[in-house]
Amino acid sequence: MGILGRARLLPRLGLAGVVALASGCTWNGPQTTLVPVSDFARETLRVYGIVTWATVVIAAVVVSVLSWVLLRYRDRPDAPLPPQTRGHALLEIGWTIAPALVLLVIAIPTIHVVFRTQSAPPTGALEVIVRGRQWWWEFAYPAYQLATANELHLPVGRPAVLRLEGPDVIHSFWIPQLGGKRDVVPGRHNHLSFTPDTPGTFLGQCAEFCGTSHANMLLRLVVESPDAFERWVASERAPAVQSQAGPAADGAAAFAASACVGCHTVRGVSRGVVGPDLTHFGRRATVGAGMLPNTVDNVTAWILDPPRIKPGVKMPALGLTEAQARSIAVYLLSLK
Ligand code: CUA
Repeated sequence: MGILGRARLLPRLGLAGVVALASGCTWNGPQTTLVPVSDFARETLRVYGIVTWATVVIAAVVVSVLSWVLLRYRDRPDAPLPPQTRGHALLEIGWTIAPALVLLVIAIPTIHVVFRTQSAPPTGALEVIVRGRQWWWEFAYPAYQLATANELHLPVGRPAVLRLEGPDVIHSFWIPQLGGKRDVVPGRHNHLSFTPDTPGTFLGQCAEFCGTSHANMLLRLVVESPDAFERWVASERAPAVQSQAGPAADGAAAFAASACVGCHTVRGVSRGVVGPDLTHFGRRATVGAGMLPNTVDNVTAWILDPPRIKPGVKMPALGLTEAQARSIAVYLLSLK
């Protein structure tokens, strides 16, 4: 291959490499930090922007000076030795002060945002108690006396404060489009406060290794209009829908006769508090803390053998028959 061919091949290989690398990343994937939907996330992104531009400018200066030195002082036949110097007070003072200034430029907005996002929530903020458990999320709304699991609902435009509590091990609550991670630590009361400003469904996950199924500890946040949120609250507070006849009623009987009731609450039916409250299970989008779509087949498979789907899960296989499990699944999905 001639010199010209090789000269063309290299940039093309480089471009192919960049495309291959970049195709693994998207700007607006479901857990992007680059499309903020709250004041917290917007402020964080602003700091991120400042840091990124500062490093771009530094990289440009360093690469330019380095390129110039490499070219200017490259070895050539008969080239004389460059002048040999030792110590340069002005340069040394310069490259001590310049990084200090860069750190200052980055530190001022960073510290401002750290304090801003740690400050007390505004009065009137909607309070939600978030309990991270192995491996699911419990959300309790004291003002409405309701509790749900894995699916957090918030009204758009209203400040929210999440009070983070950990009954078992350390977890970390993270919905990237809403803001930074915050640890859920047993015996400590952390809070996370922000105002969601865009309606939609946003995905999050536990961001601190918390055991076998850490990676299966997902959550979703639904930000909706104040009217839609009020309707959601009203229906969550309503008692469970109980069918009097048909497959769902048969499933209700199977549920009430099973060990399920020892761990799960269906208001008016059972009072278990080990696992998620199932009073309105049929309204949730997923089963297993975000693992699978909430369908009869998936819920049946889940009930038959939870550890097969979620390794380490505390819910055991109860030795039910497929027909019993399916019947209970039909009942649970009828709980709207
Ligand atoms: Cu909970 Cu990782």
